[in-house]
Amino acid sequence: MKKTELKENVLDRFRLDHKTAVVTGAAGNIGYHTAMTFAQAGAAVAIVDLPQCLERSEAVAKELSEKYNVKTAAYGCNLVDASAVTELFDQIEKELGSIDVVHNNAGVGGALTPDIDPWDTEHHMDHLEHWKQVLDINLVSQYIVATTAARVMIREGHGGSIINTASMAGHVVNQAPMYETLDDSSYGVSKAGVLYFTRHFAAQVIKYGIRVNSISPGYCYSPGLHDGLSEEILDCYVKTQPIMRMADVEELQGAVLYLASDASTYTVGHDIMLDGGHTIW
Ligand SMILES: NC(=O)c1ccc[n+]([C@@H]2O[C@H](COP(=O)([O-])OP(=O)(O)OC[C@H]3O[C@@H](n4cnc5c(N)ncnc54)[C@H](O)[C@@H]3O)[C@@H](O)[C@H]2O)c1
Repeated sequence: MKKTELKENVLDRFRLDHKTAVVTGAAGNIGYHTAMTFAQAGAAVAIVDLPQCLERSEAVAKELSEKYNVKTAAYGCNLVDASAVTELFDQIEKELGSIDVVHNNAGVGGALTPDIDPWDTEHHMDHLEHWKQVLDINLVSQYIVATTAARVMIREGHGGSIINTASMAGHVVNQAPMYETLDDSSYGVSKAGVLYFTRHFAAQVIKYGIRVNSISPGYCYSPGLHDGLSEEILDCYVKTQPIMRMADVEELQGAVLYLASDASTYTVGHDIMLDGGHTIW
């Protein structure tokens, strides 16, 4: 039986030298840290976020290339637009050389999404319209990005790794008393969809050497996302975890690098739960 070619030293398998990694939502909290992780591991990194975040994305690209001496470039793209995503990947391939790793991370919470226009933070939008919008951004965009990336990887003929971003909320119903309107199931439904899509798509593209997996963060502290929440909700975020605290964003980096790299060549179609033990209770 043919043995997979792996570097002898296990730590070397986490390196991403000579690879290009694409991170969506990289102007945001988790995406920024993932992009930093990939740059530290030696990859060229495409920083992708909404067009209205381009200035922030460019600043991230500049910072990472200066700090870690890797190629980076920033792109503005609304990922629910399939033809814009096709153009995006063509452009990244031309400018950074290939597509090897994708962290499919862009997404919105149920309510607080400052960069989306039009976005209804006050919940005045029709519930059905809001519900569909969350599914479009959190699920349909991940389908568009993953399938577009896989097509490029197949054409390039070298395999790759796609990491979707699900959530603890795709596995269990959040206990936090945050549900005020009937459309609030949208977030959990979208993330449960990501979990299923990950397994299905992984089974389809592993024959091309493309591994598809996901991460499910629990309550991960994001300044813009959590600072405005009530004491009651924050207290619930802390006390519903055996670990009795929220996650720091840096605590997600190791799992994403594992999935992106040759450290995980036999991990296919799985989800890594990073929830401080929330779902074991
Ligand atoms: N922070 C948490 O507690 C937590 C927990 C579980 C899952 N997640 C998931 O992790 C991912 C990142 O979350 P975060 O906490 O870093 O939030 P964040 O708001 O800091 O980052 C999300 C980024 O996605 C971008 N984005 C949104 N819609 C987009 C679109 N249509 N096209 C392109 N970019 C778009 C936003 O502009 C933003 O920069 C999301 O998918 C989120 O659902 C977060």
